[in-house]
Amino acid sequence: MKFRSVDPAQSTLREVHHLLLGGVAPRPIALVSTISAQGINNLAPYSFYNAFGANPPYIAFSPAFGGRDGSAKDTYNNIKEIPQCVIHSVTFNIIEQVNLSSAPFDPEVDEFIKSGFTTINSDIVKPKRVKESPFHMECLVEQVIPLGGTKGSGNLVLCRVVRFHVSEDIFSEGRINPDLIDLVGRNSANFYTRAQGHTIFEVKRPRGIIIGIDQLPDYIKESEILSANNLAQLGNCSSLKGRKEIHAFLESFKKMEISADNLIKTKEDDNYQNIFLSGYNLWQKDPVQARKTIELSAKKALEDHDVDFALLALQSSEILTDKE
Ligand SMILES: Cc1cc2nc3c(=O)[nH]c(=O)nc-3n(C[C@H](O)[C@H](O)[C@H](O)COP(=O)(O)O)c2cc1C
Repeated sequence: MKFRSVDPAQSTLREVHHLLLGGVAPRPIALVSTISAQGINNLAPYSFYNAFGANPPYIAFSPAFGGRDGSAKDTYNNIKEIPQCVIHSVTFNIIEQVNLSSAPFDPEVDEFIKSGFTTINSDIVKPKRVKESPFHMECLVEQVIPLGGTKGSGNLVLCRVVRFHVSEDIFSEGRINPDLIDLVGRNSANFYTRAQGHTIFEVKRPRGIIIGIDQLPDYIKESEILSANNLAQLGNCSSLKGRKEIHAFLESFKKMEISADNLIKTKEDDNYQNIFLSGYNLWQKDPVQARKTIELSAKKALEDHDVDFALLALQSSEILTDKE
């Protein structure tokens, strides 16, 4: 990998902004509702945004000063006058409306009306809530921290959440279900990411002390079939398999026979047990090809998060080699 190293102090604001937008992504989007001292509702999206603590709950977002004229956004001016806001999650079904609310309307313009959103009263704060979003946080603004105080600089708005409102429709088994909430993230330029369906996947957290990639046998680490992610999945276990376990694993496959016809079919199969079986049966004839087939079965097993099977399959080559 060849790296481009950039000194932000020697770069234009545009260049630095592009780097952040491209590399710090996809970013969650806060749809921020504020109210002016004159009582005008304001709505705008902010993707320089995240949660920073749960006890008590804190979130922050950053309205920047204009890059050309240093002007402050309405959101910034409003929270300076009334230090309160409601932050909403942005879901796929409202992304185009949210985009409308980012237009530079005058402070006198109510962006709920412009973008076609419905207001609901908040319990604690003055700014209104957006009915169409399924996740709302009523917030008190505790600090506005200037991050440069000049053209293009950010202003970190630190907010304490004092009330959540969450649609019952997005819960399953007591938790917010990522598929049901269907969130949108912001990438660079005009690109967005939809977090739904196949784009949502699981990564198992290490449980206690794990062996790590370095402890895997060389014949696994040197595989041309397993990826770096696969090796990390294998290293995410507390120990390698013992010989007894591997023997028992091989015994369970011994009784199964496989015909030459099926061999070809099973190689295209997604069933990793069948793939392993074809590799196992091939061992006497062609150990190099057999090892590759077994590695493929392990790779398929890892797609299914079956680390135990993958380790047993891969380590079985130790015993099969001994038998040669
Ligand atoms: C998805 C999205 C994310 C945005 N994120 C930011 C941001 O993090 N900071 C910022 O200053 N402007 C951001 N903008 C631009 C503001 O939304 C835009 O300047 C808006 O007019 C500000 O509205 P206001 O003046 O009513 O506060 C974003 C725009 C979009 C569409």
